[in-house]
Amino acid sequence: MKLIELKNIDRYFTLGNNKIYALKNINLTIEKGDFVAIIGQSGSGKSTLMNILGCLDAPSSGSYKIDGVEVANMDSDAKAELRCRTFGFVFQRYNLLSALSAFENIALPCVYYGLNSKTRNEKTKKLLSGLGLEDRSENRPNELSGGQQQRVSIARALINGGEIILADEPTGALDSKSGERVMEIIKDLHEKSHTIILVTHDKNIASHANRIVELKDGEIVSDTKKSDAASDIKRTKPAKKSGGFNYLMYQFFESFKMSLKAIKTHKMRSLLTMLGIIIGIASVVSVVALGNGSKDKIMSDMNSIVGANTVIILRGQGFGDKEAAKVKTLKVSDAKTLSRLDFVDSVSPNIMSEGLIVYKNKSVIAGLSGVSAEFLDVNNKKLQMGRKFSASEVESAAAVVIIDHNTQEKLFGGKNSIGEIIIFKKQLLKIIGVIAKEDNSFGPPETNLEIYIPYTTAMYKILGNHDLSSISVKISKDINSHLAEENLIKVLTALHGKKDFFTLNSDSILNMVENIADTLTLLISSIAVIALVVGGIGVMNIMLVSVTERTKEIGIRMAVGAKRKNILQQFLTEAVLLCLIGGAAGVLLAVGLSFAFNSFVSEFKMILSLDAVFIALFFSMFIGILFGYMPARSASNLNPIDALARE
Ligand SMILES: Nc1ncnc2c1ncn2[C@@H]1O[C@H](COP(=O)(O)OP(=O)(O)OP(=O)(O)O)[C@@H](O)[C@H]1O
Ligand SMILES: [Mg+2]
Repeated sequence: MKLIELKNIDRYFTLGNNKIYALKNINLTIEKGDFVAIIGQSGSGKSTLMNILGCLDAPSSGSYKIDGVEVANMDSDAKAELRCRTFGFVFQRYNLLSALSAFENIALPCVYYGLNSKTRNEKTKKLLSGLGLEDRSENRPNELSGGQQQRVSIARALINGGEIILADEPTGALDSKSGERVMEIIKDLHEKSHTIILVTHDKNIASHANRIVELKDGEIVSDTKKSDAASDIKRTKPAKKSGGFNYLMYQFFESFKMSLKAIKTHKMRSLLTMLGIIIGIASVVSVVALGNGSKDKIMSDMNSIVGANTVIILRGQGFGDKEAAKVKTLKVSDAKTLSRLDFVDSVSPNIMSEGLIVYKNKSVIAGLSGVSAEFLDVNNKKLQMGRKFSASEVESAAAVVIIDHNTQEKLFGGKNSIGEIIIFKKQLLKIIGVIAKEDNSFGPPETNLEIYIPYTTAMYKILGNHDLSSISVKISKDINSHLAEENLIKVLTALHGKKDFFTLNSDSILNMVENIADTLTLLISSIAVIALVVGGIGVMNIMLVSVTERTKEIGIRMAVGAKRKNILQQFLTEAVLLCLIGGAAGVLLAVGLSFAFNSFVSEFKMILSLDAVFIALFFSMFIGILFGYMPARSASNLNPIDALARE
């Protein structure tokens, strides 16, 4: 039964304009169960022929059929499948993966076959003990002798059946005793009905075969049969493999394990690869945390100044309106009308002035505001000591005053000022309260002094006019301040007959500030994202180098049956894993940073958000895929024979 059929096979290499023929017009048929030795001098084309037989290399012309199927019509996956299930390679230089143990090297083809780990382990153990290697299973190739390594590679060739064993100078690198042992194993395999194709330049070794094909300068010069191929060949049945989703998960899990191993084997390189991602993610996460923290601080400060849900009504058409002071329509009666609206919580009319305050022999310039009893509530101010105005004091234009913290400091220092008398524009005023220092970064500077008296006192006893500078309206809780603002405008416009005032809504101000803070955070974050992208490019760079460095490994994996997508998956998994580990380390770094920041800096806190952490991890995975894809693809696109030939 014809297993392998070569017709008019040529294989040439082009060097410049020259064609160098490694194989010329090869016609060869190999039966099932045959033991063929290919002999010839160095350079006669033995390895080239072997590589074509094993689907590692393709002929330049001619037809190669295996089991009656034309190999030239197969895609790379089908050829990988053949290498995985039908062929078993034994190389002169063993070609074991140095990072894997003997056990793992032997089991590798099963991974690409898709055998579950139980069957895989059983088979591997059986082969190990069958070849006298049971006590060497955990050793790496460099801890094994040449003979042992060659036995490991034979076991690897057999694990998926190894119906056709392709051995290229299997004893070439061994001493005569180990060589004999290997030849015995190969003969034994032949007896167990494997088809053997063996390349050698040693006539002694060739004499074990029952057919000897001699090559010279790429051509077959003799083909002698000692005996016919064993006829009663039973095809080894391929083991059942798991299918569908399970197979996918299995492949993923295996490439995950291999990637972890690769990362562990090259610790320093992996760390350097990750460094960019670590720094990128750490900076993004901590910048966002800084942004959140400062925004929080700004918002709470703003809240304490403007007070939530407050609308301030001012004269004129806007800030900077020079005519504003001439508007005389804003009256106490307006404030009273507004205070009766059901969506209004409290109202404070304001009348402003400025002048000299005298206390004993000291005098300072201060701003004066005439306000209502509710002004503390409306403006979110707290008392440090003393009390508010009573309604009757406002009613009767009493000569009482509440001073701010700065004035207290300036005029009285640490002394209790309640009950003391100060003079403003010849009017004696009795201090009944002191406003607490405002704990925010927007608070008035220390040179800014403010005192507050009932607006009635200001109108009737000090200023002698009845024009308000503004009205502060606190809107009831749970009422939309913008709707309330619209209504206030309507009511007041109706009262005045025209709109000679403008309004400030604290919520609009807060919104605006929040927007600014958000924009700033976004801006700085995008700078940090650049760091992340640079990190990603670093990953790509090192992955590309690593592909070049690991070309041989890729070649070996392909020779034992890895498909392009297996290689792609492995390198991609590796890149994603690197980025994810880097991302996680970056997040940890940011957590550490914010912890340190929060314990040393008191102005504001870094607030880490879980969202940012998840987005960062997701993003690092994305970077892994984005920047890992190109190296992974270039790895998977390697030609098996070119990859294998690389040292
Ligand atoms: N990639 C290549 N590019 C150019 N020439 C090549 C290439 N590979 C092989 N050759 C040439 O093809 C010829 C056959 O090489 P091959 O490796 O098959 O010889 P061999 O019989 O295996 O020799 P050895 O016994 O030394 O291993 C040689 O002349 C070699 O220089
Ligand atoms: Mg060779």
